[in-house]
Amino acid sequence: MAEAGTPGVAYGLRGVVVDDTRICKIFGEEGRLYYYGYNILELAERCSYEEVVHLLLKGRLPNKSELAQVIKDIKGARGLPYGVRDVIKSAPKTSIPMDVLRTAASALALTDPDPKDDTDEGRYRKAIRLIAQFPEIVAMDYRVRRGEEPVAPHDDLGHAANFLYMLHGTEPGKDAARTMDVALVLHAEHSFNASTFTARVIAATLSDMYSAVAGAVGALKGPLHGGANEGVIKTLLEIGEPANIKPWLEKKMQDKSFRLMGFGHAVYKTLDPRAIVLKKYSKKTGEERGTTKWYEMSEQIEQMMKGREKPLYPNVDFYSASTYYMMGLPPEIYTPIFAVSRVVGWAAHVIEQITHNKLIRPAANYIGEVDKPFVAMEAR
Ligand code: SDX
Repeated sequence: MAEAGTPGVAYGLRGVVVDDTRICKIFGEEGRLYYYGYNILELAERCSYEEVVHLLLKGRLPNKSELAQVIKDIKGARGLPYGVRDVIKSAPKTSIPMDVLRTAASALALTDPDPKDDTDEGRYRKAIRLIAQFPEIVAMDYRVRRGEEPVAPHDDLGHAANFLYMLHGTEPGKDAARTMDVALVLHAEHSFNASTFTARVIAATLSDMYSAVAGAVGALKGPLHGGANEGVIKTLLEIGEPANIKPWLEKKMQDKSFRLMGFGHAVYKTLDPRAIVLKKYSKKTGEERGTTKWYEMSEQIEQMMKGREKPLYPNVDFYSASTYYMMGLPPEIYTPIFAVSRVVGWAAHVIEQITHNKLIRPAANYIGEVDKPFVAMEAR
């Protein structure tokens, strides 16, 4: 196998522009992120996830009546079909939550009232159905594997608050609901990242939205992508105490193949703007919880990694981990929470892909032989 570096081969498609998009713009060198032209820092501060759902699916921020309608549409699409509930209930207690989510997302297709409907209305309806159902799948799986009864959606609660309610069975406080809402806004969309590009490749064959989203869940699960946030909290718990950070990090970083979860990025070459916001929430939730230990350890690690000869910066996963941990959420649902948010970005890109489609089929750099003389079985 040729080592990476064959001239003309764009390993990992780094920097290769493969299509136009209006949905999201990332300035990797400066650390700036825009959804349909709006800066993520403003959206995180001033929008709810439901507003961002409208922005990403319709291309503009909603007015009051449009926001009321998208909230009504999401609430109207709540309520897991029995077939999907059975899939979650039948999953072994040892199964991985992202595997349950991927399987349940596929099962949603079996219960769609009109899977072949590829009109604008049909695409919007399927997107809203996935957005409404994902938090319920994650919450039900979380409770069932603990031997607890699922909690039905609470129609008086917004998307983020309802998610926490279905997880814990009690209405969240205002602070917790807003923290989850901000996290959902921050994770909603990020241009042609691995899981979104997976969704676009599947959509480009004119397959369906459920297939595209199921594929995207599979891609997001990977620790180099959405799976990193669970890796971050495992790192913090393994280090355990601030005094252990330096020796632990120095030892690990000697291994060239080691990757510190939550650091580095394929596009950002400076601080991920989402990490700036989540860092504030990591501190805030720590203070609310009575201990900022995990925030302070994260901050120390950030300073050490920035101080290296080749600085590395936190990405979206680094401070989301300590934020969720201080919210009392278990590490195994951190990546599912990422998917609960990103499902709107996947849906938006599926719709954009099929509105000006070209089958995605890159070339390969063949490094094998050709015209080898055939060897009959008896001669092998
Ligand atoms: C997400 O693409 C997106 O937009 C994704 C995302 C989204 O919103 O959808 O932003 C979400 O996936 C964020 C990334 C989460 N993943 C992690 O935190 C896993 C840890 N990070 C690394 O695996 C890595 O940084 C990647 C995979 C994220 C990006 O890696 P690249 O661009 O392929 O870089 P690389 O692995 O080729 O490393 C380049 C150099 C190497 O050093 P040299 O060999 O050049 O000396 O940087 C070093 C690496 O050793 N490096 C790291 C590192 N990341 C890069 N070294 C240690 N730890 C790291 N985390």
